[in-house]
Amino acid sequence: MKRELSMEFVRVTEEAAIAAARSVGRGDKNGTDALAVDAMRSMFDTVHISGTVVIGEGELDEAPMLYIGEQVGAGGDEVDIAVDPVEGTNLVAKGQNGAIAVIAIAPKGCLLHAPDMYMEKIAVGPRAKGCIDINAPVEENLARVAKALKRNINDVTVVVLDRPRHAELIERIRKAGARIQLITDGDVSPIVNAAIEGTGVHMYIGKGGAPEGVLGAAALKCLGGDMQARLCPESEDQLARCHKMGIKDVHQVLTIADMVKGDDCMFTATAITDSQLLQGVRFFGGGVRTHTVSMRYKTGTVRFVDAVHRLDVDNFSVKL
Ligand code: FBP
Repeated sequence: MKRELSMEFVRVTEEAAIAAARSVGRGDKNGTDALAVDAMRSMFDTVHISGTVVIGEGELDEAPMLYIGEQVGAGGDEVDIAVDPVEGTNLVAKGQNGAIAVIAIAPKGCLLHAPDMYMEKIAVGPRAKGCIDINAPVEENLARVAKALKRNINDVTVVVLDRPRHAELIERIRKAGARIQLITDGDVSPIVNAAIEGTGVHMYIGKGGAPEGVLGAAALKCLGGDMQARLCPESEDQLARCHKMGIKDVHQVLTIADMVKGDDCMFTATAITDSQLLQGVRFFGGGVRTHTVSMRYKTGTVRFVDAVHRLDVDNFSVKL
C-alpha cells in the first residue's frame, strides 16, 4: 500500500472522532455512532483505494453504511478495511475516557473477517513477545511476562474488562499479585497501550469483541507486540457465521499473523475522549484539535498527529 495513504487514513479517523465528540455525554449511543459512521464513510470516499469493509457496522441488513462487504474509496489499491467509528460508544454517551475512532487497513484478503461475537484475547508489547500462551493459566502468563519485563509481578499492570464473566480471572490475577486496571468499555486502546512503554499497561487479557481483537492485532503487528486469541461462538447462529466467513476451526488459537496476514498493514486511531495515549477532541472558538496515532507495519513508523482544524475562518488562531 502506498505510504501516503497513511495520512489519508488519519483524516478518516479525525473526521469520525470530531463528529462523535460533538455528542460526548449526551447519553445517545446510537446517535453518536451514526454521526461518526457518516463522517468516516464520507471521508473514505476521498481516499484513493478500492476498499472492502470486512469488519464494520454489521451485515447489510443491519447497517446502512460501513456494512460488511461495502465498497469504499475513490479507486486505487485493493484493500481490506476494519472500522470502528466509535470504539466505546458507552464511554462517549457517558462522557468517559478511552473512546477512539479506529481503522486498520491491509491488502485485500489479509484481514481476518472476524464475526461480531466474543473473542478471548491476551496481548503484550514487544519486550514480552513469545512469552504468552492463551492455553496456559493466567498465573503462568503473568510470571513469564514479569520475567521478560524484568519486573516483579506486583509491578505488572493488567487491563481487564470489568464484567461478571471475568470475576474468576480478576481474582486469580489479584492473588498472583499483579495490579489490575478494570475498564468499563473499549478494549482496543489497552491492547495498543500494552505495546507502548510509558502508558503503564503491560498486558491485556480477557474476553471482548472479536472485531476489536482484529483491530488490536493490526496495531500490535505494527508495534512488534504479541497477541493470541480464540473466537467464542455462543450459538449455532454464531457458529454458522464463522463458517460463512471462511473460519474453519473456530477453536483455533489465532496469532497476529492469522488475524493480519502478509507484510503490509496500517492502523490509525483518533481519540474521541482522553486516554493514556492520546488527548481527546478539544473544541475551541473557531476550530477543533485532534490527536491521532498512525502506524505502518512496513517501516515501523509510528506518528502522533496533533492537528488543529479550522472551522471558522474569521475566528481562528492556533495555540501551542
Ligand atoms: P462498542 O463501542 O461497540 O459499544 O464496544 C465496546 C466494547 O467495550 C469493546 O471494546 C469490547 O471488546 C466489547 O464492547 C465488550 O463487549 P461487552 O460489552 O458485551 O462485554
